[in-house]
Parts: sequence; C-alpha cells; structure tokens
Amino acid sequence: MSEKKPKIALLYGGNSKEREISIKSGKAVENAFKKLKYEYEVFDPSVGFEFIERIKNYNPDLAFICLHGKGGEDGQIQSILEFLNIKYTGSSPKTSAICMDKNLTKKILSAENIPVPKTFVKEHTKFPAVVKPSEEGSSIGVFIVNNKLELENALEKLKDYENILIEEFIEGRELTVSILNGKILPTIEIKVEEGFYDFNNKYVSSKTNYICPAEIDKNTQRKINEIAEKCWNILECKGAVRVDMILDKNNNPYVLEINTIPGMTQHSLLPKAAKVAGLSFEELVNEIIEGALREQR
Ligand SMILES: Nc1ncnc2c1ncn2[C@@H]1O[C@H](COP(=O)(O)OP(=O)(O)O)[C@@H](O)[C@H]1O
Ligand SMILES: [Mg+2]
Repeated sequence: MSEKKPKIALLYGGNSKEREISIKSGKAVENAFKKLKYEYEVFDPSVGFEFIERIKNYNPDLAFICLHGKGGEDGQIQSILEFLNIKYTGSSPKTSAICMDKNLTKKILSAENIPVPKTFVKEHTKFPAVVKPSEEGSSIGVFIVNNKLELENALEKLKDYENILIEEFIEGRELTVSILNGKILPTIEIKVEEGFYDFNNKYVSSKTNYICPAEIDKNTQRKINEIAEKCWNILECKGAVRVDMILDKNNNPYVLEINTIPGMTQHSLLPKAAKVAGLSFEELVNEIIEGALREQR
C-alpha cells in the first residue's frame, strides 16, 4: 500500500452501447471506494469537453476507468488522460485501440502463433460461422449463422458497423482467463442453458453457470495459461484484462478476444476469478489501484 491514500477520479457512464454495463461496473467500484475510504469523485465523459475541464480541476492522483466499448475502452479516454498527465488504470492507448478491434487483435496474435478462429472473406464462408462487429462488446451484434441466408440477414442487421468480422465457429467449452497485474487468475468456465453466451445469458439470465476453477486437466490448463500470458505480453497489457477463449473438443484453446476493461459488477467474471484466488472485491479494486500507481507513464 502507498503511504498516503490517493485521490481518485472514478470514470463511468460514457456513450457507447455498453453505457448501462459501465454504470453498473462503476457503481460497484464506487461502493468499494466507500468501504476502502478513498477520496474520490465520479466523472462521466459523455458530457464532452466539460469532462476534461472538470477532471483537470479535480487534479486526481489516478483515474479509475470503468468504461466499456467505444470512447472508453478503445484508447480515446486513455489518450486524453495521457495528455492531461493523469495516471489511469489499465492498458495504454495503443493496447486499448488494438484490443478493441477483434480483427486486428487476431491478426497480431496469429502472427505470433496464438490459435484464433479463422477469419473468412464473405464469399468463402464455411458454416456454421460467427458474424460480429469487430469493435463492440457485451455480445452485442454477435450472430451464429448456419447458411448463406442467415449470413446475409446478420450482415444486414450489422450494416451500420464499419468493421464486421466473419469467422469460424468453434464448438466447445467457453472459458475466460483473467489476468491481474500480470498474474494469471483461475480460469472460469461458462455454461449457458441455451444458445451461446449472448447478452441475455451474460446479464439477464440467472441460469448461466460459472465454474471456477474450471475443471480442466493439468496439461490443457498449462497450455491455456501459457496462451493467456503470451497474449498479455504480445499486446503489452496492463492492469486487469480478460482473455476470452473457446476450448474445442480436442482440448485446443482458441482466443476470441482480449478485454482491456473487464466488467466489474458483482456478477462479472473478473471479480469471480479474483474471489477464487482469495481476493475480495475490495481487495481486487485495491490491487488495480496499486498496480496503476506503480506504472511509469
Ligand atoms: N468464433 C466463435 N466460436 C464460437 N463462439 C463464439 C465465437 N465468437 C464469439 N462467440 C460467442 O459469442 C460471445 C461473444 O463474443 P466475443 O468475441 O467474446 O465478443 P464480445 O464479448 O466482445 O461481445 C462469446 O463469448 C461466445 O459465446
Ligand atoms: Mg467476450
């Protein structure tokens, strides 16, 4: 712990499609701040220029970023904070921008021999396939398609997105690996009752099961942890991240994406993994703060 408690700007809200999730994450972190007796103030960047003036005047020791999606998780807010010379939690603008783009992330990871689902060009799609916006989150706009017609329908629904990804559907077990300040936390397996891990199964359904630590044989677990750690290193991640994977029938893990600002609600995955590793929600928040304060930026 630092000797003197830092003064923190807590950022939540924003204007991405994940605003509501961001507010939930932010409020959970705010509760932890209260328990931990941190001096803090809440800032919502969706107010625009006024946000910059307010945070500059507040002059915090650290900005704790609880924003998801565009504007908050893609390097934009991180760049503004760099410009204002304010320390912040999580990854750099560069890492954030890359990880926000699933297509680009996969290109970089596959060049380093990390297994990822194959990307299809539309004409050569093999079914079943997954269609999703390259730069979105919370399973918003993710479709599993079984034929050309379904593919066309999905593309039509996503027509407002600039970047759309069509990729190989990997059948298997849904896993997520959380990493906290470079330390790999226990893997979570997500078991949905029906369909895939879509928005409803993520945030609404009470029937989604989370198994942590996931029941995985030692060798496969070693492989999974190695892949997660490589992702962390290749993309120069910082703070807390989550690597989403699918483990296929032959126990081969595939990386779907890397989340540089994982959800922080009481039901989110990172806090679950942290708990199994022996960290309460407040201790997790503290670790994120301490890790960020140690960073030289
Ligand atoms: N290639 C794929 N194979 C199988 N399932 C997938 C694939 N891509 C996405 N999914 C499913 O969709 C969910 C959301 O996709 P993901 O790429 O993690 O995007 P995000 O969580 O940012 O919305 C995954 O958790 C998984 O259930
Ligand atoms: Mg995901």
